[in-house]
Amino acid sequence: MATPSRALLLLLLPLLAVAASHPSHEFCAAGGGDSGGGCGGGGDGARILIKGGTVVNAHRAEEADVYIEDGVVVAVRPNIPVGDDNVRVIDATGKYVMPGGIDPHTHLAMEFMGTVTIDDFFSGHAAALAGGTTMHIDFVIPVNGNLTAGLESYKQKAANAAMDYGFHMAITKWNDEVAREMEVMVKEHGINSFKFFMAYKGSLMVTDDLLLQGLQKCKSLGALAMVHAENGDAVAEGQQRMIDLGITGPEGHALSRPPILEGEATARAIRLAKFINTPLYVVHVMSIDAMEEIAKAKREGQRVIGEPVVSGLVLDDSWLLDPDFTIASKYVMSPPIREVGHGKALQAALSSGILQLVGTDHCTFNSTQKVFGSDDFRKIPNGVNGLEERMHIIWDSMVESGKISITDYVRVTSTECAKIFNIYPRKGAILEGSDADIIILNPERSFVMGAHAHHSRSNTNVYEGRKGKGMVEVTISRGRVVWEDGILNIAPGSGRYVRMQPFGYVFDGIEKSDAAYRASLRAPVQRGKAVA
Ligand code: URP
Ligand code: ZN
Ligand code: ZN
Repeated sequence: MATPSRALLLLLLPLLAVAASHPSHEFCAAGGGDSGGGCGGGGDGARILIKGGTVVNAHRAEEADVYIEDGVVVAVRPNIPVGDDNVRVIDATGKYVMPGGIDPHTHLAMEFMGTVTIDDFFSGHAAALAGGTTMHIDFVIPVNGNLTAGLESYKQKAANAAMDYGFHMAITKWNDEVAREMEVMVKEHGINSFKFFMAYKGSLMVTDDLLLQGLQKCKSLGALAMVHAENGDAVAEGQQRMIDLGITGPEGHALSRPPILEGEATARAIRLAKFINTPLYVVHVMSIDAMEEIAKAKREGQRVIGEPVVSGLVLDDSWLLDPDFTIASKYVMSPPIREVGHGKALQAALSSGILQLVGTDHCTFNSTQKVFGSDDFRKIPNGVNGLEERMHIIWDSMVESGKISITDYVRVTSTECAKIFNIYPRKGAILEGSDADIIILNPERSFVMGAHAHHSRSNTNVYEGRKGKGMVEVTISRGRVVWEDGILNIAPGSGRYVRMQPFGYVFDGIEKSDAAYRASLRAPVQRGKAVA
C-alpha cells in the first residue's frame, strides 16, 4: 500500500510551484453565510454516485445511495438511478459510507521545543486523507504573543494544504492589544476557539490571572476556551525532582508529571470557567483524574467538553520503559500517556458521553529530533502521531469490540466536532447540501500499522505493528476521490480554509443563566447611611 502512494507524492512535488500561485486561503463561511467566490464547491465538477452502502450519520444509519455533484452532497436516498455516463459509480455494497473524520486537535509545521514538527500541511494531509480524515483544526501559535503575526505565519504554513482545515488560536500573553486581536480573529478570520496552556512553564504557559481574562474575553466573543490542563509549576518541580534522582530518560517524563497534576489543573480550569460562566473545552484528557473532574462538572450541569486523544485511549506508559531510547522517546507527549487502566476508563467515558469527541494531538517528531533529549527527558520534543491512525483505531478498538455503535462512531470522530465548532451540517454529516467529505469503510478488511506504510514524514510510529479490523478504502474530499485502492491522489494547495462562526450551540442560553445568577444575588442590599 505504501509504495504506490509514496511514489505518487513524489510525482506531485513539482506541483508545489503551481500550488504557490493557487489561492491558498479561500475564506468560506461555514453554514452557507458569505460563501461567495466558489465556496462550498468541489471545483472540478465531478459527479459521483455511491451505491448500495449503509450511510451512517450520527443520528441514524440507513441503506441509501449518495449522489455528489460539484463537491456537495445532492441526494441521499435508496435506489438513485445512474442514468448518465458522466457519473462515476462507486459500489459500496457491504460497506459503511460515513462523513470524513474531523480531527479537532493537530499541530502541523509547529515550532516547538527548539524544532519544528516533521509533518507540514501537505504530509499531514496526505496522512489524514489516507486514514479517512477530511478536515482538521490546527493550533495557531502567536509570534511573541502577537496573534496577527501568528495567523500570517500559519497562512503560509498552510499554503500547501491538500484538504480542508480550520484554526484554533493559542493565547500566550495578555494585554489590551491581545484582547483586541482576539476580537479581530473571531470577527474577521473565522477563528472561534482559543487555547490556554496551563503547562510548558517558561514558554507557552499562562497564569491563572491570564486564564481568567481570557475566559472572560472568550465569553464576550462567543469563542470556546480550550485548556491544556496540567499544573506547569508543579511539573517543573517534578522534573527537577527526577533529575535530582538521576532519572534523565524518557520514563522521567511521565514520572515528573503524574495524573494528580492533570486532575488539579482540570479542576482549576473548570472552576474558573464556572466562575465566569462560559463553556470550557479540555484538550487531550489523558487520565482518570482529569476525566472524573469533567464528569463531576457535567453532573452539576456545567458545560465542559472533554477530548481524549487516540494515544491516551489505547496506549500505556510501559513503552516509556523500553531500553531503546528511539522506542521510548517516541511515546513522550504531554500530558503523558498513563499507566494501564486509564485508557480503558477513558474509553468507557467516551462510550457514555462523559467525553465527547476524539482528537489526535498529532505532533510528530522523527527519531533524530527526539534525540535532542537523549541526556535529559525535558528536552525530548513532546508529541506523537495519530492523524492517519485515528479513524481505524477508534473503529477497531471501540466499534469492533462493541463499545460504541456505528452512529456513535460518526459522532465522536466527526459530527460532534462539527457541532462544537459550529460548522455542522456543512461538515460532519452526509445530508443534502453537506460538503462531500465522505469515507467508505470495509468492515471485513484488516490493517497493520507502522512507519513502513504510513504517510507521515516521521520515521517512527507509536502504533507500530498494531493490527485491527476495518479499512477505509475510499476517501472523498469535497467531491474528489483522493484515496482509493491504497493510492493517494492529492494536490498541494487544493486545501481550503474553513471559517468557523462564534456563538456555537455550547453558548445557547448562557445569557439566561447569567440573568438567573444576577437575580439570585439579593444584592446590593439597601441600607441607611452607617453612622460612626
Ligand atoms: O505533547 C504534546 N501534546 N505536544 C503538542 C503540544 C500540546 O501540548 O498540545
Ligand atoms: Zn496541549
Ligand atoms: Zn496539542
